[in-house]
Amino acid sequence: MPFSLRAVSPDDFPSLYALDQACFDPGIAWSKAELLYFLRYPGNIGILAEDESGRLAGFAIAGKQRRQGAVFGRLITIDVDSPLRRRGVGHVLLEEIERQLRAAGATAVLLEVSVDNATAQRFYERHDFVRTGRIPGYYLGRIDALVMEKQLS
Ligand SMILES: CC(C)(COP(=O)(O)OP(=O)(O)OC[C@H]1O[C@@H](n2cnc3c(N)ncnc32)[C@H](O)[C@@H]1OP(=O)(O)O)[C@@H](O)C(=O)NCCC(=O)NCCS
Repeated sequence: MPFSLRAVSPDDFPSLYALDQACFDPGIAWSKAELLYFLRYPGNIGILAEDESGRLAGFAIAGKQRRQGAVFGRLITIDVDSPLRRRGVGHVLLEEIERQLRAAGATAVLLEVSVDNATAQRFYERHDFVRTGRIPGYYLGRIDALVMEKQLS
């Protein structure tokens, strides 16, 4: 794949924000403050994929939390530029996030995805995530989220 991965740096923020805005409807995309918070939060993982000229192809952010004494990961977002989808960019980003979460001791990773986002649901199912819950009105107070989870151990 003609894309390489690297850790996100503070200078990447404008292009990450622009891509997230392009990927999601208003009100569902993260605000600038939210995205900055996730990128700066200690221990969070931010990975981006870029082509040989340094053009952003996609990125992913995940956090780590504790639940009943165990560490688990939470995938905050994974965004791929629309012309570059179905080329494996999302796959390599998710693999790297999972690798880093495992290295940090996480035994599972979970995420929320809109009931309307069939593409992302297919993507996660393809990567062995299973539905474990549903949160009514999670998006904009009216669109439910599915909770999806994958065991990492
Ligand atoms: C979901 C997303 C990250 C997938 O990224 P991607 O780079 O296109 O995914 P990949 O090319 O790695 O796809 C891997 C597999 O996922 C599945 N998949 C991905 N997109 C799919 C689609 N539109 N329809 C059906 N299956 C799909 C396929 O099984 C695919 O394998 P294949 O191409 O060999 O059939 C991308 O569509 C995206 O950025 N969407 C907008 C943002 C978003 O919704 N993010 C998720 C937030 S919860």
